[in-house]
Amino acid sequence: MKNTIKFAKRTLINNRRSKYTLPTNTKLYPAQWNWDSAFIALGYSNFNLDYSLKEIDTLLSGQWEDGMIPHILFHIKDLNYTPNYKAWNCGKKVSSSGITQPPILASVLRLIIERQKLSQKKIKKFYPFIFKIKKCLEWFIKYRDPKRTGLISILHPWESGYDNSPLWDKPMNKIKIDSKLTYKRKDNKIVSPDQRPLKIDYDRYVSIKNHFKKMNYDPKKMYYKSKFNVVDVGFNSLFLKALKDLDFLLDYINESNSFIKKYIILNEKKLTKLFNPKKMTFKNKDLRNNTSVKIPSITNFFMLYSDLKNKSVNRSLIKSLKKYYKNEKYLFPSVSPGHESFEEKRYWRGPVWINCNWIIYQGLKTKDKKFAKIVKKRTINLVEKKKFREYYSCKSGLGMGAKNFSWSAALYLDFILNRP
Ligand code: DGY
Repeated sequence: MKNTIKFAKRTLINNRRSKYTLPTNTKLYPAQWNWDSAFIALGYSNFNLDYSLKEIDTLLSGQWEDGMIPHILFHIKDLNYTPNYKAWNCGKKVSSSGITQPPILASVLRLIIERQKLSQKKIKKFYPFIFKIKKCLEWFIKYRDPKRTGLISILHPWESGYDNSPLWDKPMNKIKIDSKLTYKRKDNKIVSPDQRPLKIDYDRYVSIKNHFKKMNYDPKKMYYKSKFNVVDVGFNSLFLKALKDLDFLLDYINESNSFIKKYIILNEKKLTKLFNPKKMTFKNKDLRNNTSVKIPSITNFFMLYSDLKNKSVNRSLIKSLKKYYKNEKYLFPSVSPGHESFEEKRYWRGPVWINCNWIIYQGLKTKDKKFAKIVKKRTINLVEKKKFREYYSCKSGLGMGAKNFSWSAALYLDFILNRP
């Protein structure tokens, strides 16, 4: 255990550049990624608060004027990534991608502030962070739910962070591939192709991106014209939790906000309806094609993290989760192994991800302490055995994807050093 803690800290520090941290040192992701960075900041906060705050500051330095925080910030003009900063061709002060990612930073910042037990005076130095996060969450409401339905859309699978999840198969099958694609993938030269998304997935990812580029990344146009527009349970759960944590922070600094409070009530009501407790199924909405998608994905259980008020729904969620992972040696598979789309090795189509386990643990610890403890223990054991890989087989525990993966190290530290 002691050695793994040392190795985790070393992993983060080795992946750190002067003001931000790479997701891995394996050349797979040579930039700053939005939700990776938030998890990394949380990891640092367990042993080096300065690095943690610098990580957040750098991520927020890439925020667009309208409030969006991009999913990738290209601080260095490196061409070793596809699509690179030239292919995106956007961002002002910092070159970036033109789409976003789960706004987990709000929740991370709340945890950091609460754990530091800062006085209201000391918290002043966090004001700029809180206001930037507020602007970011307002951006989601304004541009990703322009009709105020209470649910937020994502417009690209990359926005979810679980890029090639079977959740996107149905909507992605409808995407027409650009006839003039010229991109060259690098990821499947670094990591075994059977652990990465397929060519057809990439053709579609890049086609959607090219379409956005033609619209000059105008968020209004993108919402109405995107070929991919999905209301996802997992994303909305992370969003609801982020809103609640922002609301907490605003109250804490006496900046209470009725617009956010109202949207929390609406979002919670609509999100709860996407779970059917009797059938124990979740429903994603494909708005573009006016249809629904039902896939047993671990990300559906992020609903536990959003801390719904409805106790009976929470109980059903826990019951469903126990069924979902029941026969697996390593938890949690990203897709239920009984489902036809499950693949043991391929990226988000089956493997175990440490950030999913951490999110679910956070949701469980206030609702089912015993189960939460099991999740924590089994996650720690897996990481101590196989070290900081990007993802792991739920069957054998085999480590896959990138090595020295930052968020696996960061969240291991958070699991082990932070006693609730
Ligand atoms: C990748 O390159 O696989 C990333 O997940 C895209 O954001």
